[in-house]
Amino acid sequence: MYRSVFRPGLFKGRVVIVTGGGSGIGRCTAHELAALGASVALVGRTPEKLATVAAEIADSGGSAFAHPCNIRDEEAVAALIGNILAAHGRIDALVNNAGGQFPALLKDISRKGWEAVVQTNLTGGFLMARECLNQSMQHSGGAIVNIVADMWGGMPGMGHSGAARAGMVNFTETAALEWARYGVRVNAVAPGYVASSGLDAYPPEVRGLILQAGKHVPLQRMATESEISAAIVFLLSEAASFINGAVLRIDGGRPGVRPGFPLDVDRTVEPFNGFHLASLPKVLQDREKE
Ligand code: ADE
Repeated sequence: MYRSVFRPGLFKGRVVIVTGGGSGIGRCTAHELAALGASVALVGRTPEKLATVAAEIADSGGSAFAHPCNIRDEEAVAALIGNILAAHGRIDALVNNAGGQFPALLKDISRKGWEAVVQTNLTGGFLMARECLNQSMQHSGGAIVNIVADMWGGMPGMGHSGAARAGMVNFTETAALEWARYGVRVNAVAPGYVASSGLDAYPPEVRGLILQAGKHVPLQRMATESEISAAIVFLLSEAASFINGAVLRIDGGRPGVRPGFPLDVDRTVEPFNGFHLASLPKVLQDREKE
């Protein structure tokens, strides 16, 4: 079973949507929420990945359902939320986690590539949140957590994603203001480097950067998926009932690093890993073998 720090049954009877639930942070979060009693609606583009995670969750004693959808497609998102409501009777929370990008310098990004990344990482999250609000949460309240990124001060090599994620932070702040009247809280989580399957999606040219990434973090390592999931679960929970419009950075202190200040450590902070099915991405497994 998932080893969550939160109390058993915390999400009993709750229906939570997790986009990008077929892998990485989304898969881990879906497992933790299901372990705490939620019925999880897994959203993503690839039905097989969602079915695999739904089966894993069932094997672990939880409840999860695959709802394939392209979150860039406005009509499909409206139909998806209608279908989830019809199937599960309610929607209590949304984890807007689906995303994706490719490494490129701004000067080399085509309009098509730019728009694809903005649609996935900004527009898709907006569509998901708006439909949850209009079809359900404005009547019965809820909580939304948007997953953004450590893009503070710019995101060289992934400027399209940085721009979209920064937009998502401002969307979070506006939605927190506009939707508080309905009893809906909207917050964001900004992960830094995470040892998740998403790292394997990057091309071999950036392997060196991935392997060195932890050295640029004050805590001298990457996050585990469950260190991100725990924060998402907290923000969705009743313990966060006065937190609205916040962005929780989970990056080991990376954005505060200053040139010249050494990142030596006398003692490490042990990673928290509550996810019983966690495995290192291949790129990090290969390093361990070397
Ligand atoms: N994950 C990454 N891109 C996605 C998309 N367009 N729709 C759903 N899940 C996604």
